[in-house]
Amino acid sequence: MIDNDSTPVNPSLTDPVCTRLAQMNRRQILKAGAATLGATTSMTSSAANKGSDSSFLSFNEASVNQGADLKLAKGFTYKPIISFGDPLKPGMEAFDPLKLSEEEQKNRFGGSADFTHFFQDKKDKNKGILCVNNEFPEFAQNPEPEERELAAFHSVGCSVIALQKNSQGEWQVDLNSTLNKRITPTTKAVITGPAAGNKRLVSSASADGIQSAGTFGNCAGGFTPWGTYLTCEENVQTYFSGDVKSHPEAANLKRFGFKGKPHFFSKCDKRFDLQSDAQSPLHFGWVVEIDPYSPDEPIRKHSMLGKAKHECAEMTIDKHGHAVVYTSDDQTFEYIYKFVSKEKYREGNRQHNLKLLEDGTLYVAKFFEDGSMKWLPMVYGQGALTEKNGFKSQGDVLLDTRSAADLLGATPMDRPEDISISPKTGKVYFLMTGNRARNDQRLNVANKVVRGSGHIIELSADHHSDSAKWDFLVICGQDLADDTNSKFHKNTTFPGRFVYPDNGTFSPDGEFWVCSDGYGFPGFSDGFWHCEIEGQRGLTRRLATAPKGAELTGPCFTEDGRNLFMAVQHPASFPNGSFPDFNHLKARSGVVLISKV
Ligand code: FEO
Ligand code: CA
Ligand code: CA
Ligand code: CA
Repeated sequence: MIDNDSTPVNPSLTDPVCTRLAQMNRRQILKAGAATLGATTSMTSSAANKGSDSSFLSFNEASVNQGADLKLAKGFTYKPIISFGDPLKPGMEAFDPLKLSEEEQKNRFGGSADFTHFFQDKKDKNKGILCVNNEFPEFAQNPEPEERELAAFHSVGCSVIALQKNSQGEWQVDLNSTLNKRITPTTKAVITGPAAGNKRLVSSASADGIQSAGTFGNCAGGFTPWGTYLTCEENVQTYFSGDVKSHPEAANLKRFGFKGKPHFFSKCDKRFDLQSDAQSPLHFGWVVEIDPYSPDEPIRKHSMLGKAKHECAEMTIDKHGHAVVYTSDDQTFEYIYKFVSKEKYREGNRQHNLKLLEDGTLYVAKFFEDGSMKWLPMVYGQGALTEKNGFKSQGDVLLDTRSAADLLGATPMDRPEDISISPKTGKVYFLMTGNRARNDQRLNVANKVVRGSGHIIELSADHHSDSAKWDFLVICGQDLADDTNSKFHKNTTFPGRFVYPDNGTFSPDGEFWVCSDGYGFPGFSDGFWHCEIEGQRGLTRRLATAPKGAELTGPCFTEDGRNLFMAVQHPASFPNGSFPDFNHLKARSGVVLISKV
């Protein structure tokens, strides 16, 4: 969602190309193809024309106009899979918002669905596990205010849900599976890697700085080839109440954007009171690995991947066998990171692979004008990351990831959101959601539109290397009709354009798809687009339009590419029926499955 991500807290203003770019005419900067607004809406992509086997590629664009329901291109249909408050255990009653209690919510699907990943069973293709982020609290209508808040407190985190195909071949929740599980702010957790045991993590709630609890603010994520789910803690700062200035970690909290404004979480759990002896703000802002097949194991917060408002964790195995995870820090003027594991991936050795994200090297991205970029290592004792600048260990570097990246001179980006890796080419796509605070003085080579509405950067990467080549795939300009600052294929239609690209995904056949988060943007509605990366590069076409008030998030194709899981987050309520029930219930977020008829 668009929230406090848009308020910068990065004090760095230095970028060598800022001034010169500011002096250049914007038309000179962006010579790239301007869009043709009046083009027909009935074209198909060149990928479809080539006879690709994906049933999703050939469609006439969906309407830009929103209604109470999810709108899809003609020939597509959807079915709700699970929604906020639906049961995860057998014998539970159907969702009743008046009865939703704290204990009930611990066993019901969480709120504000975001990232999804579907692990299809390798042996039985009729089974699988759907992992879903529940980003922020969703409230039901329990008449008891305290119980209502406690239920909302437990509505965040993650939901792990077993699915199976029914006799009609449709995916549905398997309530009898013992793998169904909610992960909430109180679920048992541990910190791993160099920051584990750091005394800055010690409080009465964590005597050793290793034991931890819970996750929340879970935005996008990723998955590993050994079958675990990575969930990313993003906007964790809003949940802590109290005085930031007098806090022993005041500098750290300020750099992360903590304000200490009152929040109901501190009434539910004293860890969220910044003046409590149990305070634990440094326990959040991590990439968290969850093993959906071991529901009783603690979730693991990997400090080695840095502490930031992590949007996503996109993983691949490099040519030497190391695990590589790309991750982004979703706030204006923050950075893009890459982790490379110390040990190598061992096919089939799950116990070994489960340790891979605990040790390695974290890098931060710096982009150059000649189309190259560097990954700068964030290693304690190297460069500026020394005691002189306040770092006493690698753990300190990771606890203060943002400040360490400032010192290294990383490139401040326009809200780096999701990252996707092409399964065909290995190229990496960074989605920037835009930056209304980007002015003439703060332009840089990779973020060159004043008050930009987002762009997508393509990286031609050897994942192991500390350098790469980059280029723009799409630039969304300042507004939809802004040709001067935009880069779309000339055949992109007006409804086919997007702003604020947020989540990306690849279909199994290597086609790229994008969700937007441009809620309230004039003349725009959030949706889901195909984006061509070869052929008619930058041709974007709208497949789906979100229900009013909602954004679409967490797109994930099934292995056969014929179905698509999609989260519908924060839909608006209507008097005569709301998404997805269209009965007496208010609108609720959830996950749907989109298919071609
Ligand atoms: Fe939760 Fe960065 O979107
Ligand atoms: Ca979003
Ligand atoms: Ca977002
Ligand atoms: Ca997001």
